[in-house]
Amino acid sequence: MRVLVTGGAGFIGSAVCRSLALQKGAEVINVDKLTYAANPSSLAPIQGLKSYLFEQQDICDREAMDFVFNSYRPDAIIHLAAESHVDRSITGPAAFIGTNIVGTYTLLEAARKYYEGLSVPGRKRFRFIHVSTDEVYGSLGPADYFREETPYRPSSPYSASKAASDHLALAWFKTYGLPVIVSNCSNNYGPFQFPEKLIPLTILNAIERKPLPVYGDGRNVRDWLHVEDHAAGLITLLFEGKPGEKYNFGGDSERSNLDVVTQICDVVDRLYPGPAARRSMITFVPDRPGHDIRYAIDASKAHRELGWRPTRTFEQGLAETVAWYLKSRAWWERARSGVYDGSRLGLLATQH
Ligand SMILES: NC(=O)c1ccc[n+]([C@@H]2O[C@H](COP(=O)([O-])OP(=O)(O)OC[C@H]3O[C@@H](n4cnc5c(N)ncnc54)[C@H](O)[C@@H]3O)[C@@H](O)[C@H]2O)c1
Repeated sequence: MRVLVTGGAGFIGSAVCRSLALQKGAEVINVDKLTYAANPSSLAPIQGLKSYLFEQQDICDREAMDFVFNSYRPDAIIHLAAESHVDRSITGPAAFIGTNIVGTYTLLEAARKYYEGLSVPGRKRFRFIHVSTDEVYGSLGPADYFREETPYRPSSPYSASKAASDHLALAWFKTYGLPVIVSNCSNNYGPFQFPEKLIPLTILNAIERKPLPVYGDGRNVRDWLHVEDHAAGLITLLFEGKPGEKYNFGGDSERSNLDVVTQICDVVDRLYPGPAARRSMITFVPDRPGHDIRYAIDASKAHRELGWRPTRTFEQGLAETVAWYLKSRAWWERARSGVYDGSRLGLLATQH
């Protein structure tokens, strides 16, 4: 099978490319613009394989997307390319509108043209997996869960742009018959994550003995899923997912942000002891504007219909992740020293 992956030099996309090429024996074409969030060295394990090809392209460029489809003639596409950081979307929403909405539209149109030119068996096989987030559903109270039919109520420019792209993707199924499947996943963690998101930022600050920022009172809850479990779910969708359907992926691992940061402190203390307990470096900082209180996924449809389940507990996955950052300095030092030094993003002028 030949799979076109967009955003394959990012955190989740690189896990999908590695898994497709190394575990599934698939041919992979990675289309990535290489923004600040990309790190081509995340693909080192598959670089040089005959079954792995890279195209540096922007998904907003229609001619480039036509060229990619016509040259590589994929059997399926897993679309992950996006601007993905909520705090950056608050500071500068334009790139989110461009890539997440216009880029997805451009890709859907290029895919539709390509799909319409396929043979009948080619059309039967073709899938467009649109990768999205649980943040499109908005914020939950203490007891409920996001289900596939939960109405969309996005809060941030990031989640609103992803919500728009989900609607476009499903409209291309309903109107044009393009075999689109949408996945909505909870927060991912694991190796190769750009150190602007909560878990890698906290791990690196803890390693470097810098303050560990916690937004607001730290009680916001997220449902964590290991990136490799998410990648496995996305690949399962290629074979078991039903066109026109949505599937939620989650880890059944709800933790408050303060719990997550405290656990990281304890794991880093154990694996890389320092003069003082890392918990003493926790610093409460102004909250994120529009910060959703709680996300929690009901993934029973994916369990039932795809036979998919997460394979790790959060505690196992977190310990593995801390160990990976401790041994992978070369991977993160480039990002940390040049692209992003860990300073606060996403505050309004009135909060400074
Ligand atoms: N990280 C999470 O916790 C999470 C959870 C659920 C869903 N998602 C979704 O999964 C996808 C991947 O997320 P991630 O965390 O790996 O993101 P990431 O920021 O790590 O990577 C995004 C990748 O997309 C590429 N890209 C950005 N704009 C592009 C463009 N115009 N053309 C081509 N490539 C472009 C970047 O260079 C980068 O390699 C996103 O669609 C995101 O919304 C993420």
